Amino acid sequence: MIPIMSSIRKTLIWNSGFLNLADIIRTSIFRRVLDSCIKNPSIMRVASMKILHNFCMHPREIRLITQVLRSRGPCRLLIFGLGNDSTYWRLVNGGGRTVFIEDDPIWLERITRMDPEIEAFLVSYGTRRVEWKRLLRRPDGLQMYLPTAVLDREWDVILVDAPKGARADNPGRMKSIFIASLLRASDSDVFIHDCNREVERVYSERYLGKKDLKRQVIRLRHYCYSEYPDKDEVSEPFTVRVPFEVLTETAR
Ligand SMILES: C[S@@+](CC[C@H](N)C(=O)[O-])C[C@H]1O[C@@H](n2cnc3c(N)ncnc32)[C@H](O)[C@@H]1O
Repeated sequence: MIPIMSSIRKTLIWNSGFLNLADIIRTSIFRRVLDSCIKNPSIMRVASMKILHNFCMHPREIRLITQVLRSRGPCRLLIFGLGNDSTYWRLVNGGGRTVFIEDDPIWLERITRMDPEIEAFLVSYGTRRVEWKRLLRRPDGLQMYLPTAVLDREWDVILVDAPKGARADNPGRMKSIFIASLLRASDSDVFIHDCNREVERVYSERYLGKKDLKRQVIRLRHYCYSEYPDKDEVSEPFTVRVPFEVLTETAR
């Protein structure tokens, strides 16, 4: 019995050690690929990076966000959702501040262990995607607790890539899209991923508007706001800007 237990223990230690080693190799050796994409995000380079790092987005979507971030220079970047791409976005925004919001504690632990320089906060959405129609016209039902670091100031670029929304019992992106509309700066770029899905499409149209939708690349919508909009432009009646105070502060 004891030799068996010892062998199981050794296997477990080896496996966890191996996983850590794999993580370290992934983040250090492949870092070169990340660096080359940041300098020149050609489709070929971004596609190689996507395969090597197991990113979920399409290379054209990654390239668009990279180009916008590069053209803005170091900025305040807020990302809903940690992923295999988090280190990349942090590096693209080198010199700026990049903050992630994540609702899965195990996933947060895993990603921040691989890259301790990631600044991420755990949140809880408390919704299920199936509630999306009921919540659509009720911004009071879209409030959530957020850390002071997130509410501190507005954000230049916001990427909504979470929480999960593929299944009816997933949280859905109702709150993250609504909150992106509150936290964006007046001259911001806002990206909403997975706009092939109804909730992402309907919520971004309601809270981010149609007029500022600059383009859609595959499943990624890019909203681009200007600090000084054309004074002749009439704001759309369905675009709701809710007071910032709707959000509630909380400690980390
Ligand atoms: C849609 S993913 C973002 C993927 C990211 N763009 C990438 O390329 O890796 C966002 C959410 O899915 C969840 N998620 C993604 N990958 C996961 C995994 N392998 N295990 C558990 N949760 C995961 C996390 O909770 C995260 O907030």
